[in-house]
Amino acid sequence: MESSIIMSRQGVDEEFHVSDYLKSAARGLPLPDRVLIFDTTLRDGEQTPGVTYTLENKVRIARQLEKLGVDVIEAGMPITSEGERRAVEAIVKEISGSRVCALARPLRVDVDAALDCGIDYIHIFIATSDLHLKYKLKMGWEEVVEQSVKFIEYAKEHGVTVEFSAEDATRTGLRRLEEIYQKAVEAGADIINVPDTVGVMTPRAIYGLVREIKEAVDVPLSIHCHNDFGLATANSLAAVEAGAEQVHVCVNGLGERAGNASLEQVVMGLRALYGVRVNVKTRYLAETSDLVQRLSGIYLPPTTPIVGDNAFTHEAGIHVHGVLGHPGTYEPMTPELVGRRRRLVAGKHSGRHAIRAMVEEMGLHPSEEELREIYRLVKSLGDRGKTITDVELYGLATSVMDLSSQEKIRLKELTVVTGKNITPTASAIISYEGREFTESSTGVGPIDAAINAVKRCVKGFSDMELERFFLKAITGGTDALGDVTVRLRRGDKTVTSRGVSPDIVMASVEAIIRGMNRLIEMEEGED
Ligand code: KIV
Ligand code: ZN
Repeated sequence: MESSIIMSRQGVDEEFHVSDYLKSAARGLPLPDRVLIFDTTLRDGEQTPGVTYTLENKVRIARQLEKLGVDVIEAGMPITSEGERRAVEAIVKEISGSRVCALARPLRVDVDAALDCGIDYIHIFIATSDLHLKYKLKMGWEEVVEQSVKFIEYAKEHGVTVEFSAEDATRTGLRRLEEIYQKAVEAGADIINVPDTVGVMTPRAIYGLVREIKEAVDVPLSIHCHNDFGLATANSLAAVEAGAEQVHVCVNGLGERAGNASLEQVVMGLRALYGVRVNVKTRYLAETSDLVQRLSGIYLPPTTPIVGDNAFTHEAGIHVHGVLGHPGTYEPMTPELVGRRRRLVAGKHSGRHAIRAMVEEMGLHPSEEELREIYRLVKSLGDRGKTITDVELYGLATSVMDLSSQEKIRLKELTVVTGKNITPTASAIISYEGREFTESSTGVGPIDAAINAVKRCVKGFSDMELERFFLKAITGGTDALGDVTVRLRRGDKTVTSRGVSPDIVMASVEAIIRGMNRLIEMEEGED
């Protein structure tokens, strides 16, 4: 059951409400004071099936990662293509607040391609497990070691920082791993990375392995965990428990197959559960996650930890009651810390406390009797399986309180033309503050064209962002009702609204116009 209102609460200054058992669990561990965050969203993250970024979008993400404060941005693997080479070069030119790194195999062409981008940090990798040597590289062990040493030395001759990875390290024998990492360090590698390439470790196993490798080499150690068994974050944290000084992560846990360790989870885990310092400005985590969701087209389930829509959302009566008393009752950290806000949603599990708080946050003050009626309506809609967005709760409350909410923006007419070999085009007539405006626009599809035309009519809304757009068909068949839910943002205000119609273009436009009207009301409420 979705939605309702965002609550902000003053006067609660503790950031974390975690367990006292953590302290005794961490006693005696070789935890580093500070852990470096090596972000590979633009390299391993771009290997997520179905994800590719344009050069412009790669640079946009890199800028956001720099703003977030990651220590290293792995920008790509320049040998892959001319476009990749240009993107890495552009990122090197653009970014000064984080180090920029490029991936290379131990081959002259790869290292040269990286150097040609102006890079000063190269991540050299080669597979080391028997499985990879036999079936992929078709190379003997000595050759693998020799080639690694040769091109680490070659890269070092060019004065760059070198990170060395033994790909599939977690399925490579320990003696071999120790040998190749020691030789890599002798050849000049500044940091060694331990990839759990197919995500087959457990926290206990990775802890033991990292301890062993740390004994064998004397440079900082990094960890790179994949999420095939859903353990990437846990394994990364276990590696830090064993003394790893750097963690490879991807925004939103993107990456090959089931992805890499999620940046958001690792960073907040390190801070909240271990008290380890990281450079990341956590208040930009949500903004970064949202940007990568939009540009990658991979949207997170609402239950995703830290940044998912439900991570700080409460519906059940008992929980909302607790959170209103003290957020720590049902939140281990404050939402502001990660750039999100607390939301209480109206639904069949909501209690009266929650409904009152939500309605008051909207600037409405119903009497006890009115509140009882609003509460009854929410429950009965919930029982009928209805989703109640914040705009709907507002509409419901204002109608019970008999406050006619004045819709400033009304749709008078809408024409949409679409078909094969024509550009979808829409024209709209909107009445806004008593005047009529007519505008037309094109779009990538009919919905986009219609929304663009509406936005053009309502001057001053060009800064409004469509943060979420969900379309679902109620019932099967071609006559299904289209049910559209949108989340709109204007400045620091967000609203969720909904439109339902057999015509999906109309459902979308309805949802947008309702949301815009509510945004206007919220702004007027502040004046
Ligand atoms: O998963 C892996 O092994 C990698 C290497 C390139 C480090 O991504
Ligand atoms: Zn990987």
